[in-house]
Amino acid sequence: MKPYTAIILVFAAVVAQCPSHTTAADPKVIIVGAGMSGISAGKRLWEAGITDFVILEATDRMGGRIHKSEFAGVNVEIGANWVEGVNGDEMNPIWNMANGTGLNLRTFRSDFDHLASNTYKKDGGLYDKKFVEKIIKRMDEVEESGSKLAGTLQNSGQQDMSVMSMQRLTGQMPTGPFTPIEMVVDYFQHDFEFAEPPRVTSLHNTHPLSTFNNFGKDVYFVADQRGYESVVHHVAGQYLETDPESGDIVDPRLKLNMVVREITYSHSGVTVRTDDDKVYRADYVIVSASLGVLQTDLIRFEPQLPSWKTMSIYQFDMAVYTKIFLKFPKRFWPDGPGTEFFLYASGRRGYYPVWQQLEMQYPGSNVLLVTVTDDESRRIEQQSDKQTMTEAVEVLRKMFPGKDVPEATEILVPRWWSNRFFKGTFSNWPIGVSRYEFDLIRAPVGRVYFTGEHTSEKYNGYVHGAYLAGIDSADILINCTKKKMCCYNVKGKHDQSKEPSRAYAAAAQPSAVARRISDQPQPPRLLAPRLPR
Ligand SMILES: Cc1cc2nc3c(=O)[nH]c(=O)nc-3n(C[C@H](O)[C@H](O)[C@H](O)COP(=O)(O)OP(=O)(O)OC[C@H]3O[C@@H](n4cnc5c(N)ncnc54)[C@H](O)[C@@H]3O)c2cc1C
Ligand SMILES: *[C@@H]1O[C@H](CO)[C@@H](O)[C@H](O)[C@H]1NC(C)=O
Ligand SMILES: *[C@@H]1O[C@H](CO)[C@@H](O)[C@H](O)[C@H]1NC(C)=O
Repeated sequence: MKPYTAIILVFAAVVAQCPSHTTAADPKVIIVGAGMSGISAGKRLWEAGITDFVILEATDRMGGRIHKSEFAGVNVEIGANWVEGVNGDEMNPIWNMANGTGLNLRTFRSDFDHLASNTYKKDGGLYDKKFVEKIIKRMDEVEESGSKLAGTLQNSGQQDMSVMSMQRLTGQMPTGPFTPIEMVVDYFQHDFEFAEPPRVTSLHNTHPLSTFNNFGKDVYFVADQRGYESVVHHVAGQYLETDPESGDIVDPRLKLNMVVREITYSHSGVTVRTDDDKVYRADYVIVSASLGVLQTDLIRFEPQLPSWKTMSIYQFDMAVYTKIFLKFPKRFWPDGPGTEFFLYASGRRGYYPVWQQLEMQYPGSNVLLVTVTDDESRRIEQQSDKQTMTEAVEVLRKMFPGKDVPEATEILVPRWWSNRFFKGTFSNWPIGVSRYEFDLIRAPVGRVYFTGEHTSEKYNGYVHGAYLAGIDSADILINCTKKKMCCYNVKGKHDQSKEPSRAYAAAAQPSAVARRISDQPQPPRLLAPRLPR
């Protein structure tokens, strides 16, 4: 099918979601998944007086992609590790919890200012600091012009482009980052954040990034033996029954080891079936499984989700970010102030590129953390840990030729991509996806609602995104059941402005922000197709 035809088909198929079904004021709700977003959605429902719910979680624990794991005698984080976006104009709700409200997690502000003194050549030894500083400065300038360009694109209604196209276009890097040192600096600036290369990532939707723009430029590394997941426990503890002694959640509405395999939905309600053939019925279901899971057939929808929904799900990217922990019998790397992060400038982009020594976080543990992403992640997930250990130690021996680099004694390689309950680590915004398709990912389908990091209006990919998305998705449901505002509309695809599009106005919407709920319950109707200009 030619892309153009496909576009028209999608438009013709788009239904403004205005369910005509009758809604009980105090409905029964099933939440699929007990990660940050599912737990936060549950809390919002509970605050609105909707207490008849169950949370069905596939694994044996709450927390999802925030997950501590014992390694080398300490608890390290194999999932989310940083509270990202701190010390800005707005308070990051996760920072508010982590650094306060009685939790007071042990955190460390990450200092990336010394990379120029800690960048290793592919055959060993450090680059000259001034030389690296010059490269970083140039790449920063490219980024800045990129942000300006992203703004112009938006205002002139032009097409999006990849971050890499921008790098070429701004003229300072006609071939894109090319030398090992340019590649590793570029990797650090992009892949280390988005887990996909600049070739893939949308310029328009990541420059500037709301997380750092709104909440601040700083990131804080959580190294607390209770785990970063204690923020999820903290939210759950506000409305789920807790054992006063152990602090464990003992609420019967939270059901672990329940793998949802089928969701049947109609005008009258939903039926959810699990792996072991248990059946739950309710008025609504909120699905918080990751984008990666939605891209597989783990959960079967009956009837099938409409094509506009499926297409939006497959168009977005589930990226892979792998944190490999290595323990050594002794320390051979520099430590002390300004040495936390170091880079390896391989000729092969993304080959064991970003290293972190954790002496501050886990004193005396002799643990190093190296991060890989994307293709390297998928490659490494499929090989033995022993092979990965050999490769990583070989890289370290190259970096430190004069040092006696011993064999590592332990390794931890998380496998988020292979795990059928995650299928990746977080969503990344690829080129070719506009706000329009993105809003469709969140749009409810009848009585099936969606939440999760990948549905966050501004903060997809982050813990705070998951938290805020849970609140938002619950609000969409609450607005429908409590206020009879059941209409979910989506801003037109080619409408870059903040003004209502005509199709939109035709749907009797007061204004076109990203999504709207009408004041009247309306029957489903087709939005007039809007053709590309
Ligand atoms: C390696 C890694 C590093 C990260 N680093 C950071 C970071 O530093 N800072 C940051 O802010 N964010 C980071 N993130 C992203 C952050 O962890 C996520 O955005 C957030 O935790 C997602 O929460 P969620 O509720 O949307 O999804 P999840 O946590 O995935 O929750 C969904 C839940 O649904 C369950 N589930 C799936 N399928 C089914 C089914 N069929 N039936 C029942 N249950 C099901 C899953 O088991 C899971 O518990 C990182 C993520 C990873 C994996
Ligand atoms: C974290 O909390 C402590 C104690 O309340 C406070 O002194 C500190 O400023 C907070 N840090 C940030 C970055 O907000
Ligand atoms: C719910 O309705 C209120 C108006 O009553 C509106 O302000 C809010 O944005 C709606 N929430 C969502 C998530 O649509």
